[in-house]
Amino acid sequence: MDILRPATLSDIPFLWYLRNRPYVREVSRNSAPISWEEHVEWALPVVLGLTEKRLFVVETSGIPAGQLRFDMLGGGKAEVSAAILQEFQGRGLAKKALKEGMRKMKRQKVSEILATIHRDNTASQGLFEKLGFQKNARQKGPWLEYAVLMR
Ligand SMILES: CC(C)(COP(=O)(O)OP(=O)(O)OC[C@H]1O[C@@H](n2cnc3c(N)ncnc32)[C@H](O)[C@@H]1OP(=O)(O)O)[C@@H](O)C(=O)NCCC(=O)NCCS
Repeated sequence: MDILRPATLSDIPFLWYLRNRPYVREVSRNSAPISWEEHVEWALPVVLGLTEKRLFVVETSGIPAGQLRFDMLGGGKAEVSAAILQEFQGRGLAKKALKEGMRKMKRQKVSEILATIHRDNTASQGLFEKLGFQKNARQKGPWLEYAVLMR
């Protein structure tokens, strides 16, 4: 069974491992490896609910397989990012998790979700397009901007 649940304190090591996988770093705006100290400093306030970030763990059969994050931008907007461990990719997990995450955001009165995707990241572009995201004309260097209105 696949579920999407809020990240907790005990997920912090898993989230660090995932964030530092080369295939995740490659498509991240900050592609440098993240130290444990730096990660804990970032993750602790997030999982304690002290920030405008909503961080979820994607679980399959009780095993953490990925993460989904919504950064609340105000004005009814949120920016999403997702990552699935390579071992669990290609099984529809990201698509399922994003659909569920988008439902959760709609309940929190989010009306538009944005995603920033590297132009070489065709897997992610395909994923977001399947979920109704549209590429807008703005492009910052190699980064494409996608958005979907929640109806
Ligand atoms: C992008 C990512 C989250 C997709 O996760 P996933 O669980 O493998 O994706 P799914 O199995 O749910 O695939 C959903 C759709 O995405 C697209 N997709 C996924 N992997 C793909 C690949 N390797 N090549 C092309 N399209 C791909 C397809 O359109 C797919 O639909 P289909 O299965 O009907 O063809 C995963 O590859 C990942 O973590 N990549 C590294 C981090 C990243 O790129 N994050 C996104 C930046 S916000």
